[in-house]
Amino acid sequence: MVAGHPAAPGSGVGRVPAAKPGVLPAAARLTRHALTEVAGLRRLPPSAEALLSELDAPPRLAAHLRAVHDVACAPVSWVERHHPEAAVDGDAVKFGAATHDIGKVLHPNELSGPGSAHEPAGRELLLARGVDERLARFARTHAFWAEDGIELEDLLVSLADEVWKAKRVPDLEQLVTERLAAVAGQEPWEVFLALDDELDRIASGADARLAFQASYPVSA
Ligand SMILES: [Fe+2]
Repeated sequence: MVAGHPAAPGSGVGRVPAAKPGVLPAAARLTRHALTEVAGLRRLPPSAEALLSELDAPPRLAAHLRAVHDVACAPVSWVERHHPEAAVDGDAVKFGAATHDIGKVLHPNELSGPGSAHEPAGRELLLARGVDERLARFARTHAFWAEDGIELEDLLVSLADEVWKAKRVPDLEQLVTERLAAVAGQEPWEVFLALDDELDRIASGADARLAFQASYPVSA
């Protein structure tokens, strides 16, 4: 069960009062809450959390990034345990998951509808904030996992962005499997058997994550 928090304005219950001088406005308070509520989810890396606060990220976006980041931590540690030879940059994957949709700060309509303007915009936003290309790239690549030359780290962020809501994407999982099988010298089916179990385990927690995300408004 997701812990309660101030209900969204307009929900009729627990309306967030108007901000007083020196007090964060409602949207910022909800975003703060989305970033810090325990809710069984890990906190974002401090640099990502600070960026989202500075940028006045919409509460729904903060909640989404919490959910995807939390999920990304699982395949990262699974790869580190089962395929250390892949030498995956786990901190990069976690930062990437925590910021992959940050371009929706500039394109909030893409929080509730389709659109891909947030992808290049997110990378540019991170670069403008002094984030290295090595970490900023995920804001674009999370949508381009089928591109040639994509790194395993990028594939893991894309995978987390699907499996957090229990969505399984066979082509994406196949790419991850092939990449790991190549470095491990194993048969792809052998790698996939174990990966599939891990993804099933992660997907089983989707309902709580979906409820957490939905409990925060797109705007306040
Ligand atoms: Fe996402």
